[in-house]
Amino acid sequence: MQRDDLLILIHKALRHGLLQVTQEAGATDWDDPESVEALHRRWDTVAGLIRSHASHEDRYIFALLETKQPGVTQLLGIGHDRVEAELDALDDLFDAAFAAPDPSRGHDAYLALTRFAATALAHFADEEPAVMDRIWATCTDEEIAVCRVAFMAEITPEESLATAELMIPATSHQERAQVIGAARASAPPAMFQTILDVAARTLSPSQLAALHARLDEQAPSLATAR
Ligand SMILES: [Fe+2]
Repeated sequence: MQRDDLLILIHKALRHGLLQVTQEAGATDWDDPESVEALHRRWDTVAGLIRSHASHEDRYIFALLETKQPGVTQLLGIGHDRVEAELDALDDLFDAAFAAPDPSRGHDAYLALTRFAATALAHFADEEPAVMDRIWATCTDEEIAVCRVAFMAEITPEESLATAELMIPATSHQERAQVIGAARASAPPAMFQTILDVAARTLSPSQLAALHARLDEQAPSLATAR
């Protein structure tokens, strides 16, 4: 049986968000307040999700590994010091650009964002196999499930929704059916409907049809609203 992967889905969502905001920053017209405001909202969302995820890793996922082998985070070289230092510096540049928008400040922030995206993408790619291989080798499925429940309990409805916006278009048919099927089983009906609305907005017609076919296969008696 396939074991729970605590990182792959959220990392796909964050990669999509980072690449999307990087493209949007390059396309922003810094003389147009509406264009700047749209980038501001997108950047705050993506930066907030990256910080939140790193905090979950530090306090729950790496903490679980540390109970098995003290010092393992440092041993694997998976800490967040570099990513967080670059993110803080980038936030300062964006704050300055959003406070007094002009093309020069905007370009400085854009270049720094491209560097940060490279750092973060490399970090995710190094961290994902290093952490999950160690988790699977040293933790039981029950310990992994308790860890997931603990950090999921901290996620607000707003953060869930922002994550769904990035995760649904960034994952495979199978993964998104698994995520949305889990939401149907556990989230309030209004939240589940909101997630279906996100899918309808972010997927192509063929992706959406495949999703509904898989959801119907999972629970034919619970035909989903289209
Ligand atoms: Fe990380």
